[in-house]
Amino acid sequence: STSRKYLIAGNWKMNLNSAEGAELASQVVSMFGQQTDVSVCVCPTFTTLEAVSKVVNESNVQLGAQNMHYEASGAYTGEISAEMLRHLYCNFVILGHSERRQYFGETDETVNKKTLAALEANLKPIVCIGETLEEREAGKVSEVIKTQTEGALSGVTAAQAENLVIAYEPVWAIGTGKTATPEMAEEVHAEIRCLLAGLFDEDTAEKVRILYGGSMKPGNAAELLAQKNIDGGLIGGASLKANDFGGIVEAAV
Ligand code: G3P
Repeated sequence: STSRKYLIAGNWKMNLNSAEGAELASQVVSMFGQQTDVSVCVCPTFTTLEAVSKVVNESNVQLGAQNMHYEASGAYTGEISAEMLRHLYCNFVILGHSERRQYFGETDETVNKKTLAALEANLKPIVCIGETLEEREAGKVSEVIKTQTEGALSGVTAAQAENLVIAYEPVWAIGTGKTATPEMAEEVHAEIRCLLAGLFDEDTAEKVRILYGGSMKPGNAAELLAQKNIDGGLIGGASLKANDFGGIVEAAV
């Protein structure tokens, strides 16, 4: 990952109200608010975004949301638009997380619409892909990765892709304590970069950051991040504790 700056993003999932989120964000800012070696980003719930935005404002800690709708505005009860996120100074938005695919009907088609809308609004999408245990055991990893990557990125131009982030999260490694070995993860990351080169071109593929997600913690971060095609992490559980999240960021410095 020579020319790619590491990105360590905390996916807080459905945790932390606005007071708790502001507190955690201020700890992250005090640790990493001044440094520029690594991109650091926190992704709170919608209701916590504004409070955290005020805390990270004027620091180098960036803000991301966990989802959005692809329509710009209108009669979509309960939904949030890309522009609303930009208004709170979000830089990133996580799209197509496996929990959204599993519990909330997210499909490659909706992820694609959201990816296009996010890029259009100058938000950097963190597009999540990854196989289930069943799919891995059936030898379908490559097939799943190809379908999800091509499905999510249909219609994205090479120029837009420079703002794109992919997160490979094997579903069986999420919240389970089971991490993919660095070699297992690298194999899939290299395949993803190959797919990107096919969709765009080699140069563009070299610029896209591919994050690993799934039980990443201070103890395993360094060896994962040492892999050629692993350009950062999307951190769940460990992002809720300042010291654990900080330990992972340190591994990327
Ligand atoms: O998006 C991050 C993620 O799903 C990984 O969660 O708790 O295994 O780090 P966790």
